[in-house]
Amino acid sequence: MTDVEQIKQKIDIVAFISEYVALKKTGANFKGLCPFHAEKTPSFIVSPERQIWHCFGGCNEGGDVFKFLMKIENLEFAEALKILARRAGVTLSGGFAQSRTAELKEKIYEVNHLASEFYQYILTKHPMGEKALDYLKDRKITDSSVKLFGIGYAPQSWDSLSKFLHKKGYAQELMQSAGLISKSGIGNTFDRFRGRLMFTLRDHRGNVVGFAGRLLDPNAKEAKYVNTAETPAYVKGDLLYGLDLTKEEIKKEGFGVVVEGEIDCIQSYQAEVRNVVAIKGSALTEEQVALLKRYTENVYLSLDADFAGDAAAHRGIETADWAGLNIKVVTFTDAKDPDELIKKDPGLWHRAVKNAVSFYDYVIDIALEKHDKNTAEGAKKIVSEVAKFIEPIENLVVKEHYVRKLAMKLGVNQENLEAQLAKEFKKMILPRQTESIAPNTPQSAVLLKTRAVLLEEYLVSLLLQCPNPADYLLLTSIRLRAEDFASPALAKIYLLLASLVDNPKSDVSLPGNRFDINILARFIPSELTDLFNKLYLLENKINLDDQAEVLEEIQKTVWEIKELSLREKLKMISGQIKKGEESPALEEEFTLTTAALQKLLEQKALVRHSQA
Ligand code: CTP
Ligand code: MN
Repeated sequence: MTDVEQIKQKIDIVAFISEYVALKKTGANFKGLCPFHAEKTPSFIVSPERQIWHCFGGCNEGGDVFKFLMKIENLEFAEALKILARRAGVTLSGGFAQSRTAELKEKIYEVNHLASEFYQYILTKHPMGEKALDYLKDRKITDSSVKLFGIGYAPQSWDSLSKFLHKKGYAQELMQSAGLISKSGIGNTFDRFRGRLMFTLRDHRGNVVGFAGRLLDPNAKEAKYVNTAETPAYVKGDLLYGLDLTKEEIKKEGFGVVVEGEIDCIQSYQAEVRNVVAIKGSALTEEQVALLKRYTENVYLSLDADFAGDAAAHRGIETADWAGLNIKVVTFTDAKDPDELIKKDPGLWHRAVKNAVSFYDYVIDIALEKHDKNTAEGAKKIVSEVAKFIEPIENLVVKEHYVRKLAMKLGVNQENLEAQLAKEFKKMILPRQTESIAPNTPQSAVLLKTRAVLLEEYLVSLLLQCPNPADYLLLTSIRLRAEDFASPALAKIYLLLASLVDNPKSDVSLPGNRFDINILARFIPSELTDLFNKLYLLENKINLDDQAEVLEEIQKTVWEIKELSLREKLKMISGQIKKGEESPALEEEFTLTTAALQKLLEQKALVRHSQA
């Protein structure tokens, strides 16, 4: 057995994926919201039997546990292999080289980790850190927070960090790749962070990806914050500050509070609202939303007071909304941010979080504050502003609640308001839709599939999912042939299944007459594996344990496919005859095909009568 096979055998894919996605059992499979695209109805299926997953929604993609980990953590194969091998307790026999970037990323984590320890040492143990310690005391940040969050101080010096790292054996190139040192125009290198309070930036797995350095002197002319520039290890929009420490708390509490700054996050943690992360003063990105969604469906935003008016923030909220997160807004008065509020009284912060209002109430209130509802112009603006949030609410009862509320506040007829909201929304959403059904996207592929292919997919999926396909194939009145299929790939899988019935002693026959999907999978050519897995997971409305129901469904589908195929054939032959390619053979074929179709239709009618 190869390392990969061994790992796959030891890791239960359902348990593994459950750490990222809430899965519910449905029949033999598990189902949840796809972590790779925004959706509100689950279309992500995991099969414990086959140890595979597939998204039937926007992504239309799937694979094994390796593919899942690579995709969700944005890793290369070699990185995923290392992680899964460790988890499975499998010692790798080697041979999988990591790419240069993956290797560099790991080295950056390492040198950053050491730099973080250096900054922490200066802050807590060195006289040079005294000023910064006083500052922290002043801002009411505790010693234990300093330790937990890895706060440090970068001394006012051009080279103390690089000297330290040099002594530890690290090369200048690496320090530069990590963004710890910069190069001047004439080629001198110097420490990037000098005389600043240092916040260690760690990703959700605890890797030190970068730093944020804050000025101590409020009157200094420099930028208040210097952050690590983008490096192979640090992408600003990917990071949720604090998540490595707070993810368990977020899961436990059932919601996550999103604040703006590092200090807000630390203060909230100290005030025992520990299910908190910071987005470092920018709009919530799609990546951050996806990351949060692994831990909770409920997000409380406590951002800048006027964030609803801010276009960038709008985008962030829309992203979260489209991703199916429930959003609430934490509001408070008399303080500019959570840090200030907590300093006044931690109880005020607790209360603000507890009283978070639904995002929809919040947008309505903000729009009403901004525009004069008593003028036609103002009312129009209010409606157009809230439309993009209210109109797409999926739950009709919830939607009606907000429409009624707004209609009442505006003093307009509820039906007119509903119609106008839909109009405004359509205007806004049209560009998005054309984008998402552009050619070559999976959705359009689904839309363009012919009825024949859909029927063939359905048939093969039923056969793959039923307890014993051979039984059903024996019981159906006709056997399809390769030329009956519109899709050659589906024909291949069908014929492979059919060969189980016809040649019970052939290579593909199953031991003890038992059907085992994993044994069958071995006979599927690799280019068909994805399709095979997908059809195995495709959801059907019928009860697979009800033999009569399954048989009836398979029989009906076979007939439908045959009928389409015969009609298609007749069309072709008559086309040829019209073009003057008449021949006795062609005519005979026409007669035979017509007769076959006639017989098929009679068979179908017979069943319909006996059922009536
Ligand atoms: N920020 C940044 N670059 C800046 C200013 C701010 O990256 N030039 C980010 C930081 O992550 C900061 C957050 O935006 O934590 C919020 O900014 P602000 O409230 O100004 O930072 P604080 O340190 O909280 O400042 P103050 O003491 O004034 O509250
Ligand atoms: Mn602040």
